[in-house]
Amino acid sequence: LIEAVGAREILDSRGNPTVEVEVLLEDGIVSRAAVPSGASTGAFEAYELRDGDKSRYLGKGVQKAVAAVIDELGPAIEGLDATDQRLIDAELIKVDGTENKKRVGANAILGVSLAVAKAAADSADLPLFRYVGGPNAHTLPVPLLNIINGGSHADNDIDVQEFMIVPLGAESFSEALRWGVETYHSLKSLLHSKGLSTGLGDEGGFAPNLSSNREALDLIAQAIQNAGFTLGSDIALATDVAASEFYKDGSYHFEGKQLSALELTAYFADLAANYPLVSIEDPLQEDDWEGYQHFTAELGSKLQIVGDDLFVTNPARLQKGLDLGAGNSILVKVNQIGTLTETLDAVSLAQRHGYTAILSHRSGETEDTTIADLAVATDSGQIKTGAPARSERVAKYNQLLRIEEELGDAAFYAGRTAFPRFKG
Ligand code: PGA
Ligand code: ZN
Repeated sequence: LIEAVGAREILDSRGNPTVEVEVLLEDGIVSRAAVPSGASTGAFEAYELRDGDKSRYLGKGVQKAVAAVIDELGPAIEGLDATDQRLIDAELIKVDGTENKKRVGANAILGVSLAVAKAAADSADLPLFRYVGGPNAHTLPVPLLNIINGGSHADNDIDVQEFMIVPLGAESFSEALRWGVETYHSLKSLLHSKGLSTGLGDEGGFAPNLSSNREALDLIAQAIQNAGFTLGSDIALATDVAASEFYKDGSYHFEGKQLSALELTAYFADLAANYPLVSIEDPLQEDDWEGYQHFTAELGSKLQIVGDDLFVTNPARLQKGLDLGAGNSILVKVNQIGTLTETLDAVSLAQRHGYTAILSHRSGETEDTTIADLAVATDSGQIKTGAPARSERVAKYNQLLRIEEELGDAAFYAGRTAFPRFKG
């Protein structure tokens, strides 16, 4: 039974305040969860409550959300059984009482929701992935490692937000991670040798100034080969375009031109024909359902088309995508929706309809590793949690190494099976 719920203001990886929650159970178990925060946030995400008091942290304090945990959310669930996750999450949603968790904040609600799950797992003496996923949870996800950062995650001139490597040909998660690390260091040497900056963006990838988006892919392809891997079969490529960020006044401001949705689609079709791309995220702006229908009809048979800002981990928006044939994959971010229950609902809705699901971090992160466990628990087969550098990113990869070790011979690395559409 839940005895007490506490909260505090801590810092995230960008030096902004965020919410941390602690749950104390009657049996003495104390568990803790911290809430991530996005920069290129979707317009349809659940609401992140910030104080707006300019005298503290440039208005980004979260004391109101912390107070809501202590004064309202905690008292509403004290005395409840921590294993009743669905009932507890429903209660948290009810206390807030608004459509998108605007009153107490999704950051307050999520902290409580995740801390309750961790406490229940600890109390049952189970690792979180097994508590949430049951005895059959045994699939380690393919990491989508973001090694060049652009868009609103870096101070450079690259339009596309993320260029990722996907070590789908490895035999195990630990081997995939090593391949990713070796490629990351190979890219660093390559950038250095070309006189390009090796400074990092928000997700730990390099953030050089480049003349085009293609140049980023060419550099990564070269780095993969220099590290001794085969482009495509060992390590494939993926991008997060985050197109809403450069959509203004009805057109896409991309590589110095103003493009329509059709022109941008043609650009990516050409890219997919020339590079071993397995996955492309948010190639169009977050409300262009028609554009996504066309994009998916054109490219969906060979490419994973991921809705992040499009679906915002929201089962209702995902259902619309399923009905329209928009995209074929969902990016899953716990703070976009605000409870564990709704997160799990979004994943199972996707999986029941042949959409893939990718568990994901935010660009603002903490040392919390919950998403690593959720990737294994939900059998998602894919995780996106940044470069293999910077502690808030590697914390998740390190947790997956621990889970792999814990599973021993039962561990299965999703590898190519995570990308049913990829023929390359
Ligand atoms: P965000 O970026 O956390 O800044 O929204 C991550 C993403 O777009 O996938
Ligand atoms: Zn994204």
